[in-house]
Amino acid sequence: MAEYQYILVERKERVGIVTLNRPKELNALNFQLVAELADALEEIDRDEEIRCIILTGAGERAFAAGADIKEMADKTPIEMFSGGFAAWERIRRIHTPLIAAVQGYALGGGCELAMHCDMIVATENARFGQPEIGIGVIPGAGGTQRLARTLGKYRTMELVLTGAQISAQELAAHGLVNRVVPPGEHLTVALQLAQTVAAQAPLAARLAKESVQAAFETSLEEGLEQERKNFFLLFSTEDMREGMRAFVEKRKPDFKGR
Ligand code: CAA
Repeated sequence: MAEYQYILVERKERVGIVTLNRPKELNALNFQLVAELADALEEIDRDEEIRCIILTGAGERAFAAGADIKEMADKTPIEMFSGGFAAWERIRRIHTPLIAAVQGYALGGGCELAMHCDMIVATENARFGQPEIGIGVIPGAGGTQRLARTLGKYRTMELVLTGAQISAQELAAHGLVNRVVPPGEHLTVALQLAQTVAAQAPLAARLAKESVQAAFETSLEEGLEQERKNFFLLFSTEDMREGMRAFVEKRKPDFKGR
């Protein structure tokens, strides 16, 4: 595994854990951190032994308080364009299921990073939001789009136009947070969820992720087509034979990732 300055990477059995590690700056996402994150996630994505990834923030105060404002303050549009925003696209394309474990602030790019994940576990005191309007910009890593697709137009407009924060409980009521847990338990619960995902047939998990993502990115007709093709494709895997044979033989399947 490569050496990183702003993130920590570890593994627990079949689960990879990536920690944003700038706690004094509330894990603010500078360009290098986001590039390291994309590199690390791609590296883990290639590791067939890792079947689910947890993304979390170091310290008790924040998952991430957004893009690094101090770094951005003097940037030109061209510097922003060429400064590494492509890394967000690389994170979006990770095949392995991603779970965000959020405690404290998930603001701006932090909220957007959590929404790049496939499931979100958050503590009762977690605060999400897109406060960019307060510094004269707007969300730039998918916040307007992903929030609107889940919360709807009106609540999203309120958040994006006022910069107000929103609780984990309210996001859970809208289906944007999977589990709301007491402070300090986010990693434990995320790990339990990740281990359940990691126990499934990994190729099926990847294609399930791809198929659900298609619901946000294509028309219904294209999404249905993609789901059907992925479903048929899985009939070429040993794990599909094993899974169905195990059901018939009334035993637990032993998935190999092939
Ligand atoms: N960028 C850079 N540094 C940040 C930061 C950020 N986004 N958020 C916090 N920090 C730093 C603070 O400057 C401070 O550093 P110093 O001790 O050196 O002064 C340290 O982290 C602790 O923060 P605060 O003292 O501000 O802590 P607080 O408890 O008073 O407030 C907070 C917490 C409400 C989260 C506040 O820090 C805050 O408003 N942060 C900025 C949130 C924000 O606007 N995020 C959006 C960024 S733009 C973006 O993300 C664009 C995009 O779409 C990709």
